[in-house]
Amino acid sequence: MQDALLAEFAARHGRAPQGLVRAPGRVNLIGEHTDYSEGFVLPMAIERGVWIAFAPLDRPAVELHSGTLGAEGRLDLTRLDEPPGGWLEYLRGVAGVLAAHGHLLTGWQGAVASDLPVGSGLSSSAAFELALAHVFLALEGSRLDPAALALLAQEAENRWVGVQCGIMDQLACSAGRQGSALLIDCRSLDLRPVPIPAEAVVAILDTGTRRSLHGSAYNERRAQCEAGARHFGHAVLRDVTSEEFDRRAGELDPVVRRRCRHVLAENARTLEAADALEAGDLARVGALMVQSHASLRDDFEVASPALDAMVEAALATDGCFGARMTGAGFGGCAVALVRRDAADGFCACVAERYRRATAHEPAVFVSAPAAGARVLFHESPDGGGLRLR
Ligand code: GLA
Repeated sequence: MQDALLAEFAARHGRAPQGLVRAPGRVNLIGEHTDYSEGFVLPMAIERGVWIAFAPLDRPAVELHSGTLGAEGRLDLTRLDEPPGGWLEYLRGVAGVLAAHGHLLTGWQGAVASDLPVGSGLSSSAAFELALAHVFLALEGSRLDPAALALLAQEAENRWVGVQCGIMDQLACSAGRQGSALLIDCRSLDLRPVPIPAEAVVAILDTGTRRSLHGSAYNERRAQCEAGARHFGHAVLRDVTSEEFDRRAGELDPVVRRRCRHVLAENARTLEAADALEAGDLARVGALMVQSHASLRDDFEVASPALDAMVEAALATDGCFGARMTGAGFGGCAVALVRRDAADGFCACVAERYRRATAHEPAVFVSAPAAGARVLFHESPDGGGLRLR
């Protein structure tokens, strides 16, 4: 992927790129629709991601093209008030947020490659935002820590792209650790790396169905959680105790009550799953994943027939500790924790089972936990050779 991208850049622009950045996608093991209530999540960055090869321009514009995405476009950095539409909205968002925070924007041209399926719940947009931010900052000659970068990317998505997402995707893609999932406290942004035990692998099960996050359903869920929290006199559900909930849940609108019940239980499951994973209790982690899926299906109502069928196929297959939908839902991917020695057979068998049960074409693959977004190389602006980070 990397070599092809460097060659693509050189062929198009007649010069070698000055730098290369990579940002991974992520898969969430458990802790779904809890981040915007300042709860707990347990995602990991994955081996698939977004790469950008880049070189500076002497004009205030960004020119992007992508062979893998079959797209190209240009953004005038002096006219950020004009929505360019499509994938350039992410570029405008990142540039807009960086400018608003006082960063110096340089023009550049870039070649983008991605092996993350778009809209599949693996955070292709967060990965793209972080890769873009790394390019702007590298050209400015500045660095930010992973959490600060994640907050900028989230702001780009919230304020400019218009999705009221929480911090999970951007932080997981930004701060990923090789070999570990991350238990994230979405209030303090504290991270606890939780290694995946050697006898297990994480399988990603793409249902082949898509539903855009831009749909109103995501923002509606968030508003319902906020309404629930307000009922208990709090700003976010993180502060509602289970005693408080049990005492006054009957007063809530039934839909809001179910949404709140999911978030409270999911936070408890996530903390328990992190401890169980650390202790190597894979059966317990699997059981918690299964409970999480049922809660997302019945109480939060963000699963779909395809996601249910995929989880069912996974649970029926040898070697599976547990499986659930992952990400925002309504389509996209499920995730399964699988015995390492059964992984190959598992992937083939689940795909076949799912294919037989639905009309969709799945993609099933294993990913190890990967490192977060980073500059892979950048020539120093004074021409002093390669700066590796
Ligand atoms: C999307 C959002 C995240 C999170 C998940 C659901 O991926 O971007 O912030 O809310 O949905 O857990």
